[in-house]
Amino acid sequence: MAKKSVEKNEQMEKIVALCKRKGFVFPACEIYGGFANAYSYGPYGAELKNNIKRLWWKKFVDGREDMVGLDGPILLHPKLWEASGHLGGFNDAMIDCKNCKMRYRADNLISEVLGIDLEGKLDEMTKTISEKIKCPNCGKQDWTEARFFNMMFKTEMNGIDEPVYLRPETAGAIFVDFKNVVDSCRVKVPFGIGQIGKAFRNEIVARNFIFRVREFEQMEIEYFISPEAEWEPMFDRWLETQEEFARELGAKPEDLKRYEHPKEKLSHYSRKTVDIEYNFPFGFSELFGLAHRGDFDLSQHQKFSGTNLEYLDQASGKKYLPHVLEPTFGVDRCVLMALSAAYAEEEVGEGDVRTVLKFPPAIAPIKVAVFPLLKNKPELVAKAREIFDDLRGEIKCEFDDNGNVGKRYRRQDEIGTPYCVTVDFDTLETGEVTVRGRDTMQQEKVKVEELKNWVKEKIS
Ligand code: GAP
Repeated sequence: MAKKSVEKNEQMEKIVALCKRKGFVFPACEIYGGFANAYSYGPYGAELKNNIKRLWWKKFVDGREDMVGLDGPILLHPKLWEASGHLGGFNDAMIDCKNCKMRYRADNLISEVLGIDLEGKLDEMTKTISEKIKCPNCGKQDWTEARFFNMMFKTEMNGIDEPVYLRPETAGAIFVDFKNVVDSCRVKVPFGIGQIGKAFRNEIVARNFIFRVREFEQMEIEYFISPEAEWEPMFDRWLETQEEFARELGAKPEDLKRYEHPKEKLSHYSRKTVDIEYNFPFGFSELFGLAHRGDFDLSQHQKFSGTNLEYLDQASGKKYLPHVLEPTFGVDRCVLMALSAAYAEEEVGEGDVRTVLKFPPAIAPIKVAVFPLLKNKPELVAKAREIFDDLRGEIKCEFDDNGNVGKRYRRQDEIGTPYCVTVDFDTLETGEVTVRGRDTMQQEKVKVEELKNWVKEKIS
């Protein structure tokens, strides 16, 4: 099979179109004309996303003795955001074109047009943009001042006088329950708490499909270590494990790279922060992050809540505030990465091109499709139904009897189904089905009674 080369920017358009056409991702509220660059995950997208979250939980929580899970609230005590610094400092700079009213993130506009980094320097951003940059939308050079904008969504809660915020990251809920976890579970430092959940950021510009959205999901870990621990080897191991996870979702090693934040740009409490970037169709951009946050979070929450959050080391009798390594993962970015890594177009015959999503089987939305060779032969349909019913209790399957088998293969290729099983007249005589592999397009015969285990082995 010859691989057809697809230009990177063309690939993004094709992925977005395929996502809508095949039920992975829809623009939200389309019947009302769409809404704020938000998206819904359709039936196959929801499966893909759930498979990614399941794999993460299995690898980082269930699979480790030093990890436990948590599911905290989205609406948290407003004081938490004062303590964490989000109320005062979770700001991006925005600037508007006075002519066409288009709004931009000022630092991004400057780095994209001029290739320089002025993040945080408001006056310099205003000056640079008004002197050197034309509005990419209308071409005029007539700008407002750049100003900071807090990215937390504000809301109200009955019985609470002050504003309440939708969490901008899941991490906060972990820190405020640190003491509860230590007191209720037999955890010993070093240990981590993992959580998956929604986060909300009022991004100035949501863009690149599901890469930057205002409502998204994170999978975060706070890993608590002794302040005296040798943290560098642990930090390196976390980075490697994060990259391993990306590869398990289909990323090729050459499409992953690390970006270490320069010392002068680190938050005052961080000893080291590294982004793991993926080569998305629009270029290398942050997929995951890992930060050494010292004891900043626990000490801030201790200070603002007045609750002692020290950990008692039973062995040495010492009390201390643990330091924290924070590996963080974006679910929506994992979905986009998995789609980008899996997307291929292949020439499979004279002028014939198939579109295929080559997902690793563990995350494929549908693992097996079962077909009767002919729709109008009740004996084939009955046998195919029997096989389908037997598989579907344990394996995510689909039944398809629409169109010819070639068309059904193409439909399954487009949603990334690793195996298609066809029931034909031979099946009724020999008890064997034809199994066709998505990637090789090769067919083999498998005994019906061995099929379930055969598939389980292949997709595990
Ligand atoms: N607690 C640390 C933290 O939240 P972050 O780098 O701001 O760090 C973590 O976010 C991850 O969340 C990112 O690596 C990215 O995968 C995801 N993420 C952040 N903002 C996002 C957005 N607007 N849309 C989609 N994913 C986002």
